Amino acid sequence: MPPRHAPDMSYRPSAKADWNTIRTLVPYLWPKGELTIRARVVVALLCLVTAKLATVMVPVLYKEAVDLISAEGAFVVTALVGILIGYGISRVAQQAFAELRDFFFARVGQRAIRAVGLKTFRHLHSLSLRFHLDRQTGGLSRAIERGVKGIEFLLTFMLFNIVPTLLEITMVCGILWAVFDIWYALVTFVTVSLYVAFTFSVTEWRMKFRRQMNEMDSKANTRAIDSLLNYETVKYFGNEEHEANRFDRSLRRYEDAAVRSKTTLALVNIGQGFIIAVGLTLVMTMAGFDIQSGAMTVGGFVMVNTYLMQLFQPLNFLGFVYREIKQSLTDMEAMFRLTSEQREVTDAEGAPDLVAAGGTVTFRNVRFGYGPDREILKGLSFEVPAGKTVAIVGPSGAGKSTISRLLFRFYDVTDGAIEIDGQDIRTITQASLRRAIGIVPQDTVLFNDSVFYNIAYGRPDASPAEIEAAAKLASIHDFVMGLPDGYNTSVGERGLKLSGGEKQRVAIARTILKRPAIFLFDEATSALDSHTEKAIQRSLAEVSADRTTLTIAHRLSTVVDADEIIVLRDGVIAERGRHHDLLDRDGVYAGMWRDQQKAAREAETETVDAVAAEADAQAVA
Ligand SMILES: Nc1ncnc2c1ncn2[C@@H]1O[C@H](COP(=O)(O)OP(=O)(O)OP(=O)(O)O)[C@@H](O)[C@H]1O
Ligand SMILES: [Mg+2]
Repeated sequence: MPPRHAPDMSYRPSAKADWNTIRTLVPYLWPKGELTIRARVVVALLCLVTAKLATVMVPVLYKEAVDLISAEGAFVVTALVGILIGYGISRVAQQAFAELRDFFFARVGQRAIRAVGLKTFRHLHSLSLRFHLDRQTGGLSRAIERGVKGIEFLLTFMLFNIVPTLLEITMVCGILWAVFDIWYALVTFVTVSLYVAFTFSVTEWRMKFRRQMNEMDSKANTRAIDSLLNYETVKYFGNEEHEANRFDRSLRRYEDAAVRSKTTLALVNIGQGFIIAVGLTLVMTMAGFDIQSGAMTVGGFVMVNTYLMQLFQPLNFLGFVYREIKQSLTDMEAMFRLTSEQREVTDAEGAPDLVAAGGTVTFRNVRFGYGPDREILKGLSFEVPAGKTVAIVGPSGAGKSTISRLLFRFYDVTDGAIEIDGQDIRTITQASLRRAIGIVPQDTVLFNDSVFYNIAYGRPDASPAEIEAAAKLASIHDFVMGLPDGYNTSVGERGLKLSGGEKQRVAIARTILKRPAIFLFDEATSALDSHTEKAIQRSLAEVSADRTTLTIAHRLSTVVDADEIIVLRDGVIAERGRHHDLLDRDGVYAGMWRDQQKAAREAETETVDAVAAEADAQAVA
């Protein structure tokens, strides 16, 4: 079964979807209550119009100058100089107002990009664990990156290329009609229309190569990232060649698509050149006839020519612009679709905060499965009274960590209910629920930052002294002080520069720092040697003395003191009770206990044997 949220590569936005995407963007460009931004938009648009007015003035003044010079008899020099100064001013204005337009609009565009980026980021964090487990993070961050870049492209080209050019075409056709006759306007208009239609249709056809390029690009990228994240695994199995081949397959397909995209560009250029040439020739021929009949001056001839040249200049990029805009729209679509992705776990309307009073945790006949086809928990009921400790033990895959994910409300239960102090966790805010619970997860992942930062993450406003105290309780302080950089030591990507046990202790320290009402330890000390484990167990018992505590453990020796031990098997409670009662019952738990005791004894004898053997070896030497 394909993952539910696999990126849909075959998705092609329709014109309507494109339009919707543009509409989604409008509120960001015309933000409510931000008057300066709105003022900037207005001023930028005024600059745009002024720049274009200046642009269409240039050929008119040019014509006047030529007509003056080529008129019969002498001409008044001051008149010529006047026209030429006007000509110069128009040219300067054309450029200056275009720059001013950019100047005023820059902040509007960047503000919109920032707002969209932030909104998407927030939304991604509000989506469920299920969504994120199904997604490849590399693909997700690229979707945002592309979407944001798409906004920039769209704004740049729409506002600074398409809209001004449309404005210019309208103005030029109007002037040609007014100054000469409708035929000039018509031929110009038809030529431009043909040019545009041709460019769009060929570009549309070529875009499939571009799309393939993008698909292959992101495939190659996710492959590379996934492979590098699994660096160690690749080495364990000596599969560098295999990884390189997989990567190269994606690269090769990219290469093919890129070559086709480049070669078909020639077609576009030739076609465009042809249409321009035909249009120009036609208009100039008409002008020639008109000059002969006296309907047009030499200046008029020059003016018509200048207009057409001026008009086609920005159209040169039309294919590129069209493609980029389409691409931008697709990318933005993909990003906006992320923000409209439904949240799976949501706060109920007007949900109140959790009112914690002691922190009694109750599971009432809880049923749950990650998918509809496999139930993990099959009707689970238990209670952790306020301030008490309950341990959950059981074979791997029994659903122990699932219990912690449900309590933290990463998922909602399928049936039954989970309550804290009598409040169903679905009826209170997630933020208040999660504030009340401190988890030391089974697999700790740290931020690629300093040890200090990672411990302080438990409560960012904690003082350095508090952080140190937490580190001491977690038996990590001495280790950290022994490091060359102390608390400033970087833990590396996902914390991989620390050993498993060190990572676990950092995780314990940051949870101690959080001071939650309810503690949840999921194999919190599994990676530690038994000596360190004992020390931490003592600290944990101390900090969680009067707090509700749910402990998940493999090593039964760590849960003997629990107020109740629950043995979970196949999604149901197989046995429950205190350590000694369970031993007396001589059931599953007693069996597990005997096995572990035996294994521990064997390990001990092995160590003793090894030490003895070593001593013997040394004696011989
Ligand atoms: N996101 C998920 N999607 C589908 N199945 C999952 C998911 N997470 C866990 N499972 C399955 O649910 C079952 C219970 O997993 P869980 O992590 O709760 O086990 P556990 O009791 O904590 O085991 P362990 O002692 O090995 O940590 C496992 O069989 C696991 O494969
Ligand atoms: Mg687990």
